[in-house]
Amino acid sequence: MSLIDLRSDTVTRPTPGMRQAMSQAEVGDDVYGEDPSVRALEEDVAARLGKAAALFVPSGTMGNQLALMSQTRRGDEVVVGRQAHLAWYESGAGAALSGVQFVVAGDRGWFDAGELTQAIKPVAYHLPRTSLVALENTHNASGGRVFPRAAVEAVAETARKHGLALHLDGARLWHAAAATGLSPSALCEPFDTVSVCFSKGLGAPVGSALVGPTDLIVACRRLRKMLGGGMRQAGILAVAASYALRHHLERLAEDHERARSLAEVLASAPGVRLDPSCVETNIVVFELAHEGAASERDGTASERAARFVRLARERGVLVSQLSATQLRVVTHLDVSAEQVTRAGQILSDALREVAT
Ligand SMILES: Cc1ncc(COP(=O)(O)O)c(C=O)c1O
Repeated sequence: MSLIDLRSDTVTRPTPGMRQAMSQAEVGDDVYGEDPSVRALEEDVAARLGKAAALFVPSGTMGNQLALMSQTRRGDEVVVGRQAHLAWYESGAGAALSGVQFVVAGDRGWFDAGELTQAIKPVAYHLPRTSLVALENTHNASGGRVFPRAAVEAVAETARKHGLALHLDGARLWHAAAATGLSPSALCEPFDTVSVCFSKGLGAPVGSALVGPTDLIVACRRLRKMLGGGMRQAGILAVAASYALRHHLERLAEDHERARSLAEVLASAPGVRLDPSCVETNIVVFELAHEGAASERDGTASERAARFVRLARERGVLVSQLSATQLRVVTHLDVSAEQVTRAGQILSDALREVAT
């Protein structure tokens, strides 16, 4: 039985066209700065995102952590939204590598200027120095939500007023652009640094980039080497990313439509907490609810969630469990419209079964 893998958009495999392009990549030693395909990708990405320079890195995690390492000092505090990837899901790297701590603004993943102001510490020697604000657009854990444009602008203005640097985790910036109609460079304009991924919705096997001012990117090239992220004939990977930018951007809207229609099917199953109108891109996060006393409710809902994941797998659909009761499905390049429809049927049947 072939599985329909909806756990993440990172599970895609390179297409035949991408593999063909990779097989013909011009390469050199990128640690010597001699890989023409990496250089071409970095120039293209810097231009697309409206920044002076770009650095090709192995992962989104490394892009984010280089942004922290280069723009903070040990003991600083970094403001993030709830469940920000760079604070929650990067193995404590911010503390381990940069020596920073995090403060959370707001409670929905995105935050407004008032919530940022509350999170910024007053200047006093016994308090941590707030030095950086990091936004995530789209925001993964809240279900691929787009950080509202007016909030981005107001947050950036407040951050500037306080002299703070601004980083954007744009792992799925491409999805935010497809959902809003804004260009990637317009979405990046308020930020000093932006990390973007090629290995998620765009379907490349490996690779991300960090963009920003030239001097900062030069410093990050050194830090990348320090972390073991200097790659030699990386052109084979850079060509896959360039191919993805040429061929896979346009189709992201399809993934968004499929996610929305899947959400509508799931929301109509009993015991599911999900508002399909909140599904703006390719990620659907939903919760299994249960009426009753709080302790019994949580226990029962988490048992149902685990049973649901098991049933779905047995019937050929893989979903992610984010927490005891929170589940996630993601549409991407490797699932067709027909597979998404079939998965919707399998998942809603399984939801009905675990509800009883
Ligand atoms: C929002 C966000 N940022 C960063 C990352 C990290 O990317 P990587 O897995 O390439 O390290 C992810 C990965 O899923 C993500 O969702």
